[in-house]
Amino acid sequence: MARTDDDTWDLASSVGATATMVAAARAMATRAEPAVIDDPYAAPLVEAVGIEFFARLARGELTAAELDGGDSPVGMSRFADGMAARTRFFDDFFAAAAEAGIRQAVILASGLDARGYRLAWPTGTVLYEIDQPEVIEFKTTTLAGLGAQPRVDLRTVAIDLRADWPAALTAAGFDPAAPTAWIAEGLFGYLPPEGQDRLLDQISALSAPGSRLAAEGVPSQADADEDETRERMQASADRWREHGFDIDFSALVFLGDRADVTSYLQAHGWSTTAATANDLLVRYGMQRLDADEGFAAVTYVSAEK
Ligand SMILES: C[S@@+](CC[C@H](N)C(=O)[O-])C[C@H]1O[C@@H](n2cnc3c(N)ncnc32)[C@H](O)[C@@H]1O
Repeated sequence: MARTDDDTWDLASSVGATATMVAAARAMATRAEPAVIDDPYAAPLVEAVGIEFFARLARGELTAAELDGGDSPVGMSRFADGMAARTRFFDDFFAAAAEAGIRQAVILASGLDARGYRLAWPTGTVLYEIDQPEVIEFKTTTLAGLGAQPRVDLRTVAIDLRADWPAALTAAGFDPAAPTAWIAEGLFGYLPPEGQDRLLDQISALSAPGSRLAAEGVPSQADADEDETRERMQASADRWREHGFDIDFSALVFLGDRADVTSYLQAHGWSTTAATANDLLVRYGMQRLDADEGFAAVTYVSAEK
């Protein structure tokens, strides 16, 4: 179904299902040897969502290798490695921010991210998680049911990131005068180009000097053939359909001409460094992607204000 300005979802539908997909990849990565991440909550969260295809992947009943091949340039095995590297990158970002003395953190579009429950946060840290209400409610309730305890002062902010989330965040206790560590992982592709700019403006306005931001930047599609890109995305999903899961990811993302996150942040008072997906794969001891398109073209930006 096509996106609308005020669409909503749970973790089994639309954009919400992408959070379950990423958590399934984290469950696979947690079982891998050697493992570059450890997310013990990924598998039970995916199980609880109840999409059998992702639950089978999370349990190891269906392997990534069984989904490789077909017309997709990046198969499931490499996607899972990419998600493992990405998770580790953001884990390391928070560890470095804590080391630098930052005690306020925000996870934008938290999905099934369990960092509040699995990372070691310094005493006194407050962590805010923002996502759509049904997503927040499901994760919080499911983890409580599993007996998981947050390892930080965790405050959820259930609101759409297209709404006035800065007001909701501030109402939850966020202090704009304190330096903050922000992450935006797996988010920008689901925002239209102008929505990405607005979000970066809002983050900048709420960021005291010394704040840090780590974000996954998706490539601009200005010169690319959008139909071809959507067809390529559909090719990945074809293999999934053979295993009983039918979703049109290409209808969930916004393509078109969008700002380069690194340049945008530099123009708005941030100093930046950027890495590619392949840089991260190499950094964490995994094989590089052959493709130079799609997932390989995303960037991982670290910025400081
Ligand atoms: C690919 S998932 C990534 C989730 C999480 N960051 C991770 O990496 O596991 C995309 C997430 O973005 C959230 N999201 C996308 N657009 C949003 C919006 N407009 N408002 C709130 N959340 C949004 C979805 O609900 C979903 O949880």
